[in-house]
Amino acid sequence: MRPKNLKFPFTWDNRKPIVHEGVLIVPHYYTSHGEWKDELGLFSKEVCIEFCSGNGDWVLEKAAQNPSQYWVAVEMQFERVQKIWSKMHNQKVSNLLIVSGKAQEFARYYLPDGCAREIYVNFPDPWPKERHAKHRLIQKEFVDELARIVRGGGKATYATDDPTYSAQMIAEMRASPKWSPDFNDPFYIKEWESYGDSWFKNLWAGKGRDFFYMQFTRQLC
Ligand SMILES: C[S@@+](CC[C@H](N)C(=O)[O-])C[C@H]1O[C@@H](n2cnc3c(N)ncnc32)[C@H](O)[C@@H]1O
Repeated sequence: MRPKNLKFPFTWDNRKPIVHEGVLIVPHYYTSHGEWKDELGLFSKEVCIEFCSGNGDWVLEKAAQNPSQYWVAVEMQFERVQKIWSKMHNQKVSNLLIVSGKAQEFARYYLPDGCAREIYVNFPDPWPKERHAKHRLIQKEFVDELARIVRGGGKATYATDDPTYSAQMIAEMRASPKWSPDFNDPFYIKEWESYGDSWFKNLWAGKGRDFFYMQFTRQLC
């Protein structure tokens, strides 16, 4: 199966949320997300979610290693969704749902309360310039959305090579009474042997960058 075998299922004017070839399409610039009904029961069981999956290497490995868990990969660029989809078929991974859409819209309109036991964001776009910082994913609004979808005792885990973004992630999570850090001050670890590999992790490792891994537990409040 090749990436290009996954075709975009509708024209721009006819776009709507559908499950197509095992991919949930969450259309961009769409105003009726709230009308979507989970008729297939995709989120009736507990899920582990990776937001910003890129070409999917990390989440495919996790799904393959944990066949009793149901995993979700969320990626907004359709060309990258095609790559995840192709690998999912070729590696015969059957416990993964791919979501083609923006993390914020998918979380807000498609995920029920308490449906996730673990969420991950690995090497999200750092938007390093201060004037672009508003585009970073980990901000108060998304942190609050994560607190809604992750069940009590569940985990949110972030990895980045960017110290400024790491500091922002820690500050946003610590500002919320619904999350508590798993690691002691400075609230990150720099090595996590069994964490798994992704395309960007390997890229930055090759350039000698430091990593920041952060994990938080959803409080029962
Ligand atoms: C730097 S790459 C990291 C990819 C992968 N996690 C890795 O470690 O190799 C960031 C990815 O996040 C995706 N992305 C950025 N913002 C997003 C959003 N709001 N919702 C979903 N995906 C997003 C980008 O398209 C890109 O594929």
